[in-house]
Amino acid sequence: MANSWFESVAVAQQRAKRKLPKSVYGALIAGTERGQSMSDNEAAFAELGVRPITAGQSPTRNMTTEVMGQSMAMPVLISPTGVQAVHPDGEIAVARAAAARGVVMGLSSFASKPIEDVIAANPQTFFQIYWAGDRDSIITRIERAKSAGACGLILTLDWSFVHSRDWGSPQIPQDTKLTTLIKHAPETLMRPAWLLEWLRSGQIPALDVPNFTAIGESAPHFFDAYGTWWGTTPATWKDVAWVAEQWDGPLMVKGIGRVDEARRAVDSGATAISVSNHGGNNLDGTPAPIRLLPAIAEAVGDQIEVVMDGGVRRGSDVVKALALGAKAVMIGRAYLWGLAANGQAGVENVLDVLRSGIDSNLLGLGKSSIDELSPDDLIIPDNFVR
Ligand SMILES: Cc1cc2nc3c(=O)[nH]c(=O)nc-3n(C[C@H](O)[C@H](O)[C@H](O)COP(=O)(O)O)c2cc1C
Repeated sequence: MANSWFESVAVAQQRAKRKLPKSVYGALIAGTERGQSMSDNEAAFAELGVRPITAGQSPTRNMTTEVMGQSMAMPVLISPTGVQAVHPDGEIAVARAAAARGVVMGLSSFASKPIEDVIAANPQTFFQIYWAGDRDSIITRIERAKSAGACGLILTLDWSFVHSRDWGSPQIPQDTKLTTLIKHAPETLMRPAWLLEWLRSGQIPALDVPNFTAIGESAPHFFDAYGTWWGTTPATWKDVAWVAEQWDGPLMVKGIGRVDEARRAVDSGATAISVSNHGGNNLDGTPAPIRLLPAIAEAVGDQIEVVMDGGVRRGSDVVKALALGAKAVMIGRAYLWGLAANGQAGVENVLDVLRSGIDSNLLGLGKSSIDELSPDDLIIPDNFVR
């Protein structure tokens, strides 16, 4: 059997591309319009240089940290991602991998596995909601997460329902009826390894979102839940404060890109923010979060925990984000590619790649701990920061 281990997130992506049906891979790539923000998320990290030392490096390096009261073995969290027919074990595999590597699992309210099963696999789980539906239904989701034992809540606000892509959007099945399966058969048959994984599991890719309703109620289809969200009047900052009150525990507001809004998140009672552009899936033209991070961390970093997500593919990216003021980063596509390539072991592989990259960078930069990182460790081009 070929060696399933991969040495970089880029190799995991190549394997995912070879293994997944075109539309499933396309759904992971996502992005909007001309893909400018999605590209900038990765490209911006490459603009930042590092300043290694050559002697006097530290023989030991500490990368443990804490976000929203959760101790973590390294400054990386699993960012929540919605239902994806990537692997039959889906979010359970991701949660197990995160637990095995001591990192927090972020579970989307559009995920395909029930929160109770995910928390059984990783008690360090933050549940993510959108402002979708009326207040009663939002409370239902919050209460379910509380009863299940979620140790944090993520409220994601940056979404503008942009559905056009210059490279064409993937065809996501409206249902899993026989006729639909037959329609998708040609692209599926081209990917026998993926098909075999599903056949062996005895399941078919589910497009239901079980965490959208109360436990025991039937799960709506992804598109029905999406329709509810689309039809909901967008949240105000008062609504954010209301969520903080209802949840009454560690809360992260995800999707912040402006200093004034970072301040509003502080005032609303949030514990943390993620500087994010939804992986380049919100308005195209939104700068990479790493460009926005320094100003936001400078403004509110002493009042709220600041994390960032978008474009993180290697340990050096994590180190750069921490040097610019983030307490930790969240990853999206990187673990989805690992999951596609090799299930739970693939997600562990991605986390190991990041961990060893963080360690090498701490070594090279002469640090004994992530807490010693600062902008002085980087070469920051003029006009980098937005
Ligand atoms: C396929 C896909 C689905 C996503 N679904 C969600 C979601 O349900 N909830 C959420 O808050 N963010 C979602 N995101 C955004 C991620 O949490 C994260 O912000 C983004 O992926 C980070 O960028 P990266 O993929 O470059 O790491 C999704 C991203 C992708 C690529």
